[in-house]
Amino acid sequence: MIYVTRRAEFSASHYYHNPKFSPEQNRRVFGKCSNPLGHGHNYTVEVTVGGPIDPATGMVLDLKDLKTLLEQEVVELMDHKFLNKEVPAFAEKNPTTENLAIEIWKLLAPKLVQGKLHRIRLYETADLFVDYYGE
Ligand code: NI
Repeated sequence: MIYVTRRAEFSASHYYHNPKFSPEQNRRVFGKCSNPLGHGHNYTVEVTVGGPIDPATGMVLDLKDLKTLLEQEVVELMDHKFLNKEVPAFAEKNPTTENLAIEIWKLLAPKLVQGKLHRIRLYETADLFVDYYGE
């Protein structure tokens, strides 16, 4: 098994809140992130696909296809969006880095035609990232 990784970037805004919390609780739990006007991040996502090398091509999968898939399924959906309001998955779920990584997995896993999705690594800032392995 060999693993290949493709990276993409997108910018999006979000805020955190729990509708079951009072405004005070939301402020206490989520701090500055609870401002409903939102704030932005420049996200970097790394998608890692594992599989055997196809002897005919010497590749696990065509990395150009993986780039196109990432652009179509993730970047188009999330880039320059207010995640809470514009991405249906986050209408009632906080768009945390954790939940975003899981959502990106769900978007990509069923569309891969070669290889198997191994990991989604999502950076919210240069010094903070989340890894998701599908479970
Ligand atoms: Ni944030």
